[in-house]
Amino acid sequence: MKVSEAIASRKTIRAFKPDAVPRETVMEILRLAARAPSGGNLQPWKVHALFGEARDELVRLTAEARKTNPMGEAPEYLIYPPELSEPYKSRRFRIGEAMYATMGIPREDKMARLKFFAGNWAFFGAPVGLIVTIDRMMQQGQWADLGMFLQNVMLLAREHGLHTCPQEAWAVWHRVIREYLEVPQNEMIFCGMGIGYADEEHPVNGCASERAPLEEWVSVRG
Ligand SMILES: Cc1cc2nc3c(=O)[nH]c(=O)nc-3n(C[C@H](O)[C@H](O)[C@H](O)COP(=O)(O)O)c2cc1C
Repeated sequence: MKVSEAIASRKTIRAFKPDAVPRETVMEILRLAARAPSGGNLQPWKVHALFGEARDELVRLTAEARKTNPMGEAPEYLIYPPELSEPYKSRRFRIGEAMYATMGIPREDKMARLKFFAGNWAFFGAPVGLIVTIDRMMQQGQWADLGMFLQNVMLLAREHGLHTCPQEAWAVWHRVIREYLEVPQNEMIFCGMGIGYADEEHPVNGCASERAPLEEWVSVRG
C-alpha cells in the first residue's frame, strides 16, 4: 500500500467486527510506528496494548464506574479549548451532526447519542485497545511528537487491512485506567485507540469527514 493510499483510506471507525487481530501484527505496527520523529529523539510515547481478557477487563471496570459516574471524571488535560472559536466550533458541530445523521439519531435524542458515545468505552467493539500515556513534564513539542507516532500507528494499521479509532474519550477514565494498568503518577492518560477490522455494514462507518479547502489554511508566497 502506498502512503497516499493509507492516508486516503484511514478514517475513524466507530463500529468494529469482533475478529481477533494477531498480537504480533500489533507489535510490528508499534515497533515501526516508533520510527516517528521526535524533537531531540525523546520518543515520549508510552503505550499499553490490551488484548483479550485484559482489554475486556478495562471495558468492564469502566462500565462499572459509569454506574455511579455516567460521564466519567474531569479529564486531566483540556480536550478542547473552553471557548472554541470559529471555524473550529462549526467544524466540530458538523462532524458530530454528520456522524449521528448516518444512524438517524436526531439532536433531541440525547439518550441515544449518549448511548452511542459510550461505545467509546468499549473501543467500539475493537478487539485491541491501546491506552496512550505521556509524562506530565512533557510540553507541546512532545505532545506533537506523540501525535506523529499515533498517525504512524493508524497508517500502518491500514497496511494490514486494519482500521483504527483514536479516542480522547478515554481521558475521562484516568483514575480507573491508572489503577488498573498501574500507570505511575508522573504519567498522564492522553487517549485510547481501538484497532480492528471495520464493520463496513454499520452506517456510522459511512460517515465521511470533510476537510477545509486548501485556501482556507495555506498562505502561499513567492
Ligand atoms: C487525538 C484524537 C482523539 C480523538 N478522540 C475521539 C473520541 O474519543 N471518539 C471518537 O469517536 N472520535 C475521536 N476522534 C476522531 C475524530 O473525531 C476524527 O478524527 C475527525 O472527526 C476526522 O474524521 P476522520 O478521522 O474519520 O477523518 C479523535 C481523533 C484524534 C486525532
